[in-house]
Amino acid sequence: MIIDIVTIFPEFFDTFLSTSIIKRAIALNQVDIRLHQLRDYSHNKHHNIDDTPYGGGVGMLMTFPPFYDVITKLKTEKSTVIYLSPQGKLFNQKIAKKLAISEHLILLCGHYEGIDARVESLIDMELSIGDYVLTGGEIPAMIISDAVTRLIPDVIHEDSAEEDSLQNGWLKYPQYTKPESYKGFSVPEILLSGHHQKIQEWRKEQQIEKTLVKRRDLIKGIKMTDEEKKILEKIKLAKK
Ligand SMILES: C[S@@+](CC[C@H](N)C(=O)[O-])C[C@H]1O[C@@H](n2cnc3c(N)ncnc32)[C@H](O)[C@@H]1O
Repeated sequence: MIIDIVTIFPEFFDTFLSTSIIKRAIALNQVDIRLHQLRDYSHNKHHNIDDTPYGGGVGMLMTFPPFYDVITKLKTEKSTVIYLSPQGKLFNQKIAKKLAISEHLILLCGHYEGIDARVESLIDMELSIGDYVLTGGEIPAMIISDAVTRLIPDVIHEDSAEEDSLQNGWLKYPQYTKPESYKGFSVPEILLSGHHQKIQEWRKEQQIEKTLVKRRDLIKGIKMTDEEKKILEKIKLAKK
């Protein structure tokens, strides 16, 4: 997969691209993340890419021509052009899964008051990472690139991605590691029993209970198996 990121702050991405799973995925050619300095597409000698908004108002707006030029240069029929914006659809794991099967993403990072609205005619999707306003689209671009890259086959162990929270709707079960006990805080005994099937059953119950307690809002969107429905009903009854 290729991810092209259009930004006026490419240096924002230095650590992101040279650390951990993203670094390894790039080294193994599983993803190619390319940065494009929007100022290189400026139409004036000072490399300005912003101007005052028509109709008045505070702040500066990123101008349309540099975005038009960079998008038309990078875009192919395999591209998905995404404008990162607080007005966009809320990004989630479902969207990450869909994007992970694309061959080419182009992520547009806004700054200042955002981008001239004509850019909306050139995009396929407008995505927000949450209902708050950030200074720029760089952190959202990292978040989306990270979430999507993890889902590219072989970037991480497939079972690990499959069991992650939200991947199939539920939150992940609680996990523990050594030591077994510390200052009276102990690991649940079932996990030390070596009884694989019982551990699986316990984990499934924990997933359902955790989701019910922490993120009840997710439950209506989950396609449940009959077994999961039964467990959910049992947990709800026990909580009454
Ligand atoms: C200060 S914001 C502009 C907000 C704009 N004036 C508005 O009210 O909708 C500057 C840029 O940050 C990025 N941004 C801010 N919040 C975001 C969010 N929640 N999700 C994605 N991108 C965001 C966008 O690229 C946006 O163009």
